[in-house]
Amino acid sequence: MDTTDDFCLAPLRGVTVRTFRNLHALWFMPPDRAVAPFIPTFAGAKVKPILLKDVDPDLGQAVPVVPQVIGKDPEQLRTLLRSFKALGYSCADLNAGCPWPFVAKKGRGAGLMREAAAFARMLEIGCEEMPGGFSVKVRLGMDKPDLLLQRMELINSFPLREVAVHARTAKQMYEGRVQLEPFAAALAACRHPVVYNGDIRTRGDYARLKARFPGVTRWMIGRGLATDPFLIERVRREVAGEREVARLKGFLDDFVAASAEELYGPVSVLGRMKELWGYLHLSLRQGERVWNGVKICRTMDEYHRVVEGVFETFPGFVEDEALRGIE
Ligand SMILES: Cc1cc2nc3c(=O)[nH]c(=O)nc-3n(C[C@H](O)[C@H](O)[C@H](O)COP(=O)(O)O)c2cc1C
Repeated sequence: MDTTDDFCLAPLRGVTVRTFRNLHALWFMPPDRAVAPFIPTFAGAKVKPILLKDVDPDLGQAVPVVPQVIGKDPEQLRTLLRSFKALGYSCADLNAGCPWPFVAKKGRGAGLMREAAAFARMLEIGCEEMPGGFSVKVRLGMDKPDLLLQRMELINSFPLREVAVHARTAKQMYEGRVQLEPFAAALAACRHPVVYNGDIRTRGDYARLKARFPGVTRWMIGRGLATDPFLIERVRREVAGEREVARLKGFLDDFVAASAEELYGPVSVLGRMKELWGYLHLSLRQGERVWNGVKICRTMDEYHRVVEGVFETFPGFVEDEALRGIE
């Protein structure tokens, strides 16, 4: 049966930006919603409009979006949440999962989970400012996958909208296997709706996770969708349609054009396209060869030549087995 579960696009800084979200929705089946890449809190009372550009409704948001905050100062959080409210948002998400040592060591991102009092204060202010609409994105722990479970009583004590769990520790960064046993323990202990996140790359991955966690109805997908933009349609429908090369090409052409209008200069556009191809190539046959060609481009002319070459003699898409993320 086709699934009616809820699929949320994960925030990927530098990849799942507004232009990506909007054009993806134009060319492919979109996710039900998205959490936007994080916006850092800052000192001062005035929010610079450029910080909010990615989530500005006036610039067009084809996919319902929830803005995300990273930080550790409750009053700075309040300032940023108020600026979201001024844009019309009633939901926001707190990043308590970013694993980068220079973030986590300062008590931000995953580092927030280590400091119970600071974490509690952030959740308190979030729920106060966004009643019924505040959520948090966490990991299983720092070095070991047990910290989330220890924090569950605290997490349960706030009226959160949902809790998204990336089923890895911060130490694992984005690699190694997702840890489903500790995820199961956290799921059982959490009184809020839980969103599963980590390594969903095929319909099979989703089906295996759904069989193991039938009570979970919310799923967050990041890299899987950057790798295979057709993924939502392929995950949602029992019988997936064909992946059409023309749609992929159309989307990429639009993404280059829109990025050229949005960003300042070809270097930024090239950087953004390389970021995406770093994932996209994995879904193509001879992907490594394609990626080797794209990553050494120094100008947009070179980029266009390489990518036109890829579409002239299109190598085809890899089978799902080659993408599979969950055992
Ligand atoms: C390049 C990159 C940027 C990311 N940026 C964010 C971010 O801004 N906020 C956040 O909560 N998670 C961020 N993440 C984590 C993802 O949202 C997600 O939790 C992780 O990639 C696992 O899910 P996936 O296997 O479906 O990609 C980022 C991950 C990557 C690889």
